Amino acid sequence: MELSPTIFAILAFFLSAFIFLRSRTTSKSKRLNLPPGPPGWPVVGNLFQVAGSGKPFFQYIRELLPKYGPIFTLKMGSRTMIILSRADLVHEALIEKGAIFATRPAENPTRTIFSSNKFTVNASYYGPVWRSLRRNIVQNGLSAAKLRTFRHVRETAMDKLVERLKSEAAANGGAVWVLKNTRFAMFCILLSMCFGVEMDEKTIQKMDDMMKTVLITLDPRIDDFLPLLRPFFSKQRKRVTEVRKQQIATLVPFIEQRRSAVKNPGSDPTAAEFSYIDTLFDLTVEGRKLPPTNPEIVSLCSEFLNGGTDTTATAIEWAIARFIENPSVQSKLYDEIKATVGEKTVEEKDTENMPYLNAVVKELLRKHPPTYFVLTHSVTEPVKLAGYDIPPGSNVEIFTPAISEDPNLWSNPNEFDPDRFLSGGEDADITGVTGVKMMPFGVGRRICPGLGLAMVHINLVLARMVQEFEWSSYPEDTKVDFSEKLEFTVVMKKSLRAMIKPRV
Ligand code: HEM
Ligand SMILES: *[C@@H]1O[C@H](CO)[C@@H](O)[C@H](O)[C@H]1NC(C)=O
Repeated sequence: MELSPTIFAILAFFLSAFIFLRSRTTSKSKRLNLPPGPPGWPVVGNLFQVAGSGKPFFQYIRELLPKYGPIFTLKMGSRTMIILSRADLVHEALIEKGAIFATRPAENPTRTIFSSNKFTVNASYYGPVWRSLRRNIVQNGLSAAKLRTFRHVRETAMDKLVERLKSEAAANGGAVWVLKNTRFAMFCILLSMCFGVEMDEKTIQKMDDMMKTVLITLDPRIDDFLPLLRPFFSKQRKRVTEVRKQQIATLVPFIEQRRSAVKNPGSDPTAAEFSYIDTLFDLTVEGRKLPPTNPEIVSLCSEFLNGGTDTTATAIEWAIARFIENPSVQSKLYDEIKATVGEKTVEEKDTENMPYLNAVVKELLRKHPPTYFVLTHSVTEPVKLAGYDIPPGSNVEIFTPAISEDPNLWSNPNEFDPDRFLSGGEDADITGVTGVKMMPFGVGRRICPGLGLAMVHINLVLARMVQEFEWSSYPEDTKVDFSEKLEFTVVMKKSLRAMIKPRV
């Protein structure tokens, strides 16, 4: 969240009017033993310190860690935010006390609208709706058997990606944009999996623009933390309703097209045999009589598309940056591909027998988790963690880089070194069950249900891209700039452009 200095000044002025009144009503929270944290102002807490710092949130948090330690509190207006950044505390919360920490906090009004009142896997409270939606996506949408039915979709997308890279390079003296191209490929795959209908490039672009608009609209605003400022944001609220209407209008035709294809098998020759929305049309949700409505299906589809697009593409961008910086990693990978498949095109099942590739991917997710915070957790009842009170309604945030770069858990944590995962070296259980050392997908009951699919995608894309091309820096002989910026995921500040040379 960013705030311009002018708005900052105006808000500060208005707020000071409320401060005196409100500051007398904070006695209840005084009795709680919250984790320590930087001192804040009445009512607004640390909100303006964070928003006015001009720093991305993850950077602000990183700088507070040395001073406030592995568990601390930020008061973000009316929200109490508790930040965890040490493996044992995360294990205690999400594994040992997993059931208590498995819920989400109340949503802000914008998110309530886009989630159809918390009717998505990621937004729902820990309870019957979450259980039904989660079971459905895990058992019916993303099961190993269902993933197999989309193998040809992934192959087509990979072939198209390679073609697009080749023609972009031909037109630009060998240079290609990495994130943009892989992101598009991931989006195409997820669209097919979600809707089971073929779309032309123009439609795909339109869908993509829509998703981006939604993501921007979902960015938190100052009135999400200070509800008393809501009267000043009516224009933004109107915009939210409009974007939601547009989103529904864009997606519903595809939902209806698929609904009729499922009802009349054989009527649409382009229809896939299976898609995620098939599982939603007659889904029974605990405690409900009717299956999901169209707007609810829109929210569930939007979650499916968003969950796996930017996250995966971000991982690929960092991987290519590492290959350019470390030509030996790239050539070791290429040698492994050649030794495994010879002259034929590498396929996803081949990647299961490529220990070096698997080590590269793990190291990639350790060093560059696509999101630095897992989704916000909350607690179902008052509970203690490290001796402090965690009250219901608070936002529990987990800052994962602090764990995957903890010198007590890793040797040379700042180095990018896939070899650490090879025989006899270090290891980490990515699901966290046997101990938390890295958690790019979260751990516990809310662990990412797309983990399996994401791993297939990352392995496949990297294997194909390294088999087809040799990657080097653009402009030639320059160093890669590893600065980062927050853009829903943590991407490279200078979006990566690279030189590719087809291998022959
Ligand atoms: C590299 C790729 C991906 C990364 C790094 C990633 C990461 C995450 C993380 C950190 C969480 C939050 C866990 C928590 O709250 O503790 C999450 C949740 C989720 N992810 Fe992913 N994800 C990826 C790919 C996918 C894909 C491909 C899908 C689906 C198509 C997906 C769907 C979801 C959903 C539905 C949730 C919510 C789970 C719940 O609240 O129960 N993700 N993911
Ligand atoms: C969570 O679901 C909302 C809809 O409720 C969607 O807009 C958002 O992109 C989803 N986030 C993730 C990370 O899946």
